[in-house]
Amino acid sequence: MKKVDIIIADENHYKYAQEICEVIADSARVRGTGIAKRTPEYIQTKIQNKNAIIALSGNQFAGFCYIEVWSHGKYVAHSGLIVHPDFRNQGLAKNIKEFIFNYSLKKYPTAKVFGITTGLAVMKINSDLGYRPVTFSELTDDPKFWEGCKTCTNFNILTSKEHKMCLCTGMLYDPAKKNSKKEKWFDKAVLKRLKNIKQAIMLKNNKELLLWKK
Ligand SMILES: CC(C)(COP(=O)(O)OP(=O)(O)OC[C@H]1O[C@@H](n2cnc3c(N)ncnc32)[C@H](O)[C@@H]1OP(=O)(O)O)[C@@H](O)C(=O)NCCC(=O)NCCS
Repeated sequence: MKKVDIIIADENHYKYAQEICEVIADSARVRGTGIAKRTPEYIQTKIQNKNAIIALSGNQFAGFCYIEVWSHGKYVAHSGLIVHPDFRNQGLAKNIKEFIFNYSLKKYPTAKVFGITTGLAVMKINSDLGYRPVTFSELTDDPKFWEGCKTCTNFNILTSKEHKMCLCTGMLYDPAKKNSKKEKWFDKAVLKRLKNIKQAIMLKNNKELLLWKK
């Protein structure tokens, strides 16, 4: 495995913004899943605010993730996690998430940390960090966060469910409860099955809804 450094991104890394967006979009296309679209300008703002983490192998882009602050600092989310295909399955996503998790706990010590994802890898990593699965009602109600879902292909499912559920699973880490025993809720086989059931029901209902609207 090539040596990879994980660091807080700064203005020297603006040049990677375009590639980061392209790898995020390409990966979503390959997975056939919905994803919130990011622009290079948005990525650069995150870098400028010292809210982004980049992984580099020399000058080669290996991975990225950024912090978003919601509900006036009550919540933070770690979004846009991406590992370049050349660096996958070597534990890099896990290391990036650990890095950004510890960094954001220092920067925003009282904020609850949350995420939404359809990805089993991310659910596994979050579970190891102490997140637990929650309903969307326990996440931020900041409309700006949910606006980010507008560019996801599943957005009409989210709106048809009145923002109460979607294909993504919500996960939360509450620093006020950090000493409580970590729940071992991640079971790959069970979650994979649950994801398939959710997709079958929601995508079928969505097709019917679209036909009905026509
Ligand atoms: C998801 C992604 C970030 C994983 O990166 P990675 O560096 O390959 O992941 P890691 O090697 O750190 O693996 C972390 C854990 O997830 C598991 N994992 C990795 N890919 C997985 C997959 N496709 N399905 C299920 N589990 C997976 C690993 O086995 C590992 O578990 P372990 O700790 O028990 O060994 C990477 O595949 C990617 O960038 N995908 C496209 C973008 C994406 O899906 N981002 C997440 C959006 S929420």
